[in-house]
Amino acid sequence: MSDQGSAPGVYHASADFIANAHIDADGYARMYEASVADPDAFWAEQAQRIDWIKPFTKVKNSTFDYGNVSIKWFEDGTLNVSASCIDRHMLTRADQTAIIWEPDNPATPSLHITYRQLLENTSRMANVLKAQGVGKGDRVVLYLPMIPEAAYAMLACARIGAIHSVVFAGFSPDALANRINDSEAKVVITADFAPRGGKKTALKSNTDKALFDCSDRVKCLVVKHTGDQTTWIEGRDVDVKAEMAAAKPYCAYVEVGAEDPLFILYTSGSTGRPKGVVHTSGGYLVYAAMTHQYTFDYHDGDVFWCTADVGWVTGHSYIIYGPLANGATTIMFEGVPTFPDAGRFWEVCAKHKVTQFYTAPTAIRSLMGMGTDWVEKHDLSSLKLLGTVGEPINPEAWNWYNTHVGKGKCPIVDTFWQTETGGHLITPLPGAIGQKPGAATKPFFGIKPLVLDPANAEVQTETAAVGVLCITDSWPGMMRTLWGDHARFEEAYFSQYRGYYFTGDGCRRDEDGDYWITGRVDDVINVSGHRMGTAEVESALVAHEAVAEAAVVGYPHDIKGQGIYAYVTLMNGVDPTDALRKELEVWVRTEIGPIAKPDLIQWAPGLPKTRSGKIMRRILRKIAENDFAALGDTSTLADPSVVDDLIDNRMNRG
Ligand code: WTA
Repeated sequence: MSDQGSAPGVYHASADFIANAHIDADGYARMYEASVADPDAFWAEQAQRIDWIKPFTKVKNSTFDYGNVSIKWFEDGTLNVSASCIDRHMLTRADQTAIIWEPDNPATPSLHITYRQLLENTSRMANVLKAQGVGKGDRVVLYLPMIPEAAYAMLACARIGAIHSVVFAGFSPDALANRINDSEAKVVITADFAPRGGKKTALKSNTDKALFDCSDRVKCLVVKHTGDQTTWIEGRDVDVKAEMAAAKPYCAYVEVGAEDPLFILYTSGSTGRPKGVVHTSGGYLVYAAMTHQYTFDYHDGDVFWCTADVGWVTGHSYIIYGPLANGATTIMFEGVPTFPDAGRFWEVCAKHKVTQFYTAPTAIRSLMGMGTDWVEKHDLSSLKLLGTVGEPINPEAWNWYNTHVGKGKCPIVDTFWQTETGGHLITPLPGAIGQKPGAATKPFFGIKPLVLDPANAEVQTETAAVGVLCITDSWPGMMRTLWGDHARFEEAYFSQYRGYYFTGDGCRRDEDGDYWITGRVDDVINVSGHRMGTAEVESALVAHEAVAEAAVVGYPHDIKGQGIYAYVTLMNGVDPTDALRKELEVWVRTEIGPIAKPDLIQWAPGLPKTRSGKIMRRILRKIAENDFAALGDTSTLADPSVVDDLIDNRMNRG
């Protein structure tokens, strides 16, 4: 983007881009106003972008009133999400590519799956699930590589009204078992191995380990993807590909209510175990489709690539549901940005003539460090728009992305949203809103953000403001509850700032009314764009026999955004050796997964606690940030001297 036009530091799309965009600045102002002035009328019209079996007569019915929180959209309508994503395209685009599958190894041919083939394969998968006794409302856990079967399985669940819960293939057997148990899944679908970056993760063997801790009734459906040998338990394990080949190629879709759950996705919170965020069918699909169209200025014929994994919400909304509802061609990439070399992303963009490219700032930062040759080597002339998600983007990375990938001609959409929100909340619509490196800018249609003062919960009425970010009212794509725990749902999101949805993020609103997300204000950290609850890492650490106590905080990390800093108090008599440090790292990797591995472990003979025994995390964060000059008031500590020891032995010296 060039820094043309009005204010310095504001980037605008070219006149050409704006002329072809779905929406320009005036259009945005008009439509945004309409969306908040009369949500019922606005969303009734927007909901026509998907197919309804029985049309709804009610649109919005929700309250954020703590103690009574209830969110419903289009509640008396019925639909089938897989029919809206596949069947309704049969008349117009049956032979168009729906999914381009790009394998880990570039020497393996990519696959172009048409909408017709998607219907057949989804149907076959649905018939396999039905044969296992899976029906409406049953839960199916997916623990899969980024392969077409993952898309078939998600859509097959939607087709028969089952609820999927995708577990990222980087999670450990323990994490998988917890999710199977919490959702009381009937079936887990996995693969033999997951190739990534030339290495293979043994998913089937992980699943075997997980299933030791689950009910005997859970069936294990295995996609033989690499074909390498695995264990096989007769009567429990099912060969998915063989069953699909033998199954009928068509499966009728089931009519479900708009408020019937489509999926559960577990995500980290500030306390306790991961939370099972529940998304329902009608509102979610409308919102995913609409944000996909407007945020990415998606047009027919575009090739859309979101590099996320389907194990995260980004993969749900912007690899599968949004793009397919819009009849798009969407890329599913099995690999990593640096295999076989640091040019892989750009090679794939050139190979498939990608028009919109959507990735995380952490990926941009790591590729930035490898030089521009990897980018220059490939023809990126097909790109029209770039996007980022998952964490704030620093201006250096934004500028590099703009200059070297976008060649100064692609708008960059910095999309702020969450697992809980289903789709984008705040982002610069590319033809309408000027971009500022590091700012998510303006709310999407129907989203009413507020900045509150965390000290007194007062709404900041000045345009320029700093505080915590809340949302005033519901929108169709937001979560409805936490699986099996509505009380925790209200507690986590609606108790702190009464009447509002609390995002957990801090933000700044500038003079132009643009929002800058400054990061989590709770005990959630963001490591390489992945959410991690510090409490989860702590409970993994204290589960080790050598550990008496642990406190985990985030600290700034050049590539990952935040790194994981663990303060560990050992059991009496245990030696704090380097070997033990390594052992604890491996321990956390196996308890949760590689993404949770602490970057720094400091031996802490004592932790700073108040006299009532509460750990003062503020102090631990400061020391981890190597910013201990202003620790604030430490006089309320039970033993202020522990702080000196922690400072003397700090691990991050800048
Ligand atoms: C952070 C990912 C700044 C934020 C879609 C949020 C961001 C958490 C941005 C949700 C962004 C996401 N700028 N921060 N553009 N996007 N975040 O649930 O802290 O994995 O609360 O959803 O990521 O992470 P989640």
